[in-house]
Amino acid sequence: MAWQRKDLLGLADLSLDETETLLQSAQAFKPVFGRSVKKFPTLRGKTIINLFYEPSTRTRSSFEIAGKWLSADVINVSAANSSVAKGESLKDTAKTLEAMGADAIVLRHSTPGTPNYLAKSCQTSVINAGDGAREHPTQALLDLLTLKEKWGSFRAKNVLIIGDIRHSRVAKSNIYGLTRLQAKVTVCGPATLIPPGLERLGVSVKEQLENELLQKADAIYVLRLQRERQSQGLFPSLREYSKLYGLNSDRMRHTKPDVIIMHPGPANLGIEITTEVAYGKASSIREQVTNGVAVRMAVLYHLVGGGRQVVDLD
Ligand code: NCD
Repeated sequence: MAWQRKDLLGLADLSLDETETLLQSAQAFKPVFGRSVKKFPTLRGKTIINLFYEPSTRTRSSFEIAGKWLSADVINVSAANSSVAKGESLKDTAKTLEAMGADAIVLRHSTPGTPNYLAKSCQTSVINAGDGAREHPTQALLDLLTLKEKWGSFRAKNVLIIGDIRHSRVAKSNIYGLTRLQAKVTVCGPATLIPPGLERLGVSVKEQLENELLQKADAIYVLRLQRERQSQGLFPSLREYSKLYGLNSDRMRHTKPDVIIMHPGPANLGIEITTEVAYGKASSIREQVTNGVAVRMAVLYHLVGGGRQVVDLD
């Protein structure tokens, strides 16, 4: 498929073809990961700017590694140390970075829709690295890649997403991607943390984490409990949450032998997931992190490199 898009803003509007193209390209990059020299010349001379207005370790460094392995120059701008602190508007900042020759801006911002706004005002490619509670497309793509590597096809697979769906951009992007690939998605969490109207996206909604849900799941995706929301009275105590929704060894006894456990990180160990389960044999959390680099390489390759066949991806 010839790549057309300048930006990656979310999975909601990504077609099946586009989603599959990104996943296939990411898979094609994986064999390099075992090599001692992990460099492709594809993005030589290109400049990628990580513009982060929210703290991040794994997403930012994953984009940085992906850009560097493709030979691009990668520059990190964190809002706390930039003139954003002096009140420069986002658009001005982006225009300045564009005038300096940036070929892509990887943006993380707490306001939903900011990447869309920027994409309209700049020629530069804009990649959404998380916008408020709206979308986190590269996180969902790395999750999809992790599942695709195990399953091949998503058809008729059951994915159970547990936790704070309402505030989770990761859950939203995953719902779009998983349903597009024909997986069956069930979300489970306290009613206060489930946004209304999810069923319209083809998702089943459950408030109680019954054993039957655990038995049926081919993959269980545990979301980070966003503790910063606790003061808003949206869920009881951490202990209560952990008791009702935490994934622990007792609950694991009800799951399929080959169930896949996932978490986007950073995990609150002992709250939404126990250490034992997070590091246990069913956990794919490490693979998710590795796949993050592959997926971001694929995204940069198509958006910035124009899918140039410098590398044979077949
Ligand atoms: C997520 C995020 O920032 O949205 N983390 C990540 O990108 N690895 C998940 C979260 O913080 O809950």
